[in-house]
Amino acid sequence: MASRFFSVPDVYFGTNAISSLERLNSKKVAIVTDAFMVSSGKTQSLIKAMPYATVSVFGDVKPDPNTAVIVAGVQQFKSFQPDVIIALGGGSSLDAAKGIKITLEDLYQGQKIELIAIPTTSGSGSEVTSYAVISDASNGKKYPLVSADLLPDAALLDPELVLSVPRTVAVDTGMDVLTHAIEAVASINSNDFSDALAEKAIHLVATYLPQVVENESAIEPREHMHNASCMAGMAFNSSGLGLVHGMAHALGGILHISHGKINAMLLPLIIDFNGESGSLDILKKYQKCARLMKIDVDSPSQAVRELSTAIRNLNKQQQIPASLTEFGKKREDVEAARQTIIEATLADGCTITNPRKPTASDIDMLLTKIIG
Ligand SMILES: NC(=O)c1ccc[n+]([C@@H]2O[C@H](COP(=O)([O-])OP(=O)(O)OC[C@H]3O[C@@H](n4cnc5c(N)ncnc54)[C@H](O)[C@@H]3O)[C@@H](O)[C@H]2O)c1
Ligand SMILES: [Fe+2]
Repeated sequence: MASRFFSVPDVYFGTNAISSLERLNSKKVAIVTDAFMVSSGKTQSLIKAMPYATVSVFGDVKPDPNTAVIVAGVQQFKSFQPDVIIALGGGSSLDAAKGIKITLEDLYQGQKIELIAIPTTSGSGSEVTSYAVISDASNGKKYPLVSADLLPDAALLDPELVLSVPRTVAVDTGMDVLTHAIEAVASINSNDFSDALAEKAIHLVATYLPQVVENESAIEPREHMHNASCMAGMAFNSSGLGLVHGMAHALGGILHISHGKINAMLLPLIIDFNGESGSLDILKKYQKCARLMKIDVDSPSQAVRELSTAIRNLNKQQQIPASLTEFGKKREDVEAARQTIIEATLADGCTITNPRKPTASDIDMLLTKIIG
């Protein structure tokens, strides 16, 4: 069967990557970001990089952006008619900017708006993906939208912008990168191109995430994590993801827990679940991931067990809870949402590329395990 590897946006990387914004000097530029990016002066430093551009800033993105945020952004920019939208922030700002961009293009009847994504966390990879995860304001459900129209035109990876990410957010987002890369390798649609990027990303996370934790102010580990995040995004944009993300979207929409933390908690559980299928192909894929994390054992099934154990240990070291009750969620709240979570997981686009097709009772069983 013929496959497709999306040609990726132009990627500018390294310190001072934002200087490339100078070319926007004569343009009308809309910046989509959150309150922290405005108050911390990061938005202002972007504006300084293009002093002659006409700029309008929407700084109201909230974590896990919903449709109300998109509507507010569209309302602000409708008459401004930007040539370019700059998405500045974590995955939430990047995804909100994508939603605003396609809605405006629709309003302007197809007139294209350039989208430049500047991630300030090393996590979502949204700067190079055709995904936008948007919540429904009426019921809180999270939907991963997928369309080539959501792919940014350029991505700017400036490691200086991530230096202020606190350790807990760096760990959560780093675990999101690891999950993207492992799910990309394990996906039913993995291919040589996605593997090349995902395998490198796993190696970079295994090497540099501990260094970020050890020394938050060192730029080099931050730079490698930023690149790893982008590579993992390119990988899963081609291969798709898996059941960790399918369940994480379902749970995250209802329980409002950081995306990276839910992934970290689910990842070892789903590796075990997929590994228990006994498929040698799946076991070997995980064995490849294990080797990249310096777990070198000959038996594929043992490698899978050691991989999930290593991730559980990593979670413990980083104080990532192992269950929803440890997260402080009330058992009765999760129970009340059980059926909704199962249905949302089965319907999620990421679940489709999981290497083992889950049934409703499989998800029910996994949910029981993580309630704690
Ligand atoms: N589109 C995709 O391909 C894709 C993939 C994975 C996840 N996501 C989505 O991305 C979102 C998660 O993104 P995220 O993990 O980057 O978190 P986020 O964007 O929600 O940001 C988390 C927090 O970190 C803060 N922050 C961001 N940059 C900072 C910096 N440089 N210094 C200090 N604080 C900073 C933000 O203000 C916010 O409070 C979720 O909604 C998830 O579903 C999207
Ligand atoms: Fe993710």
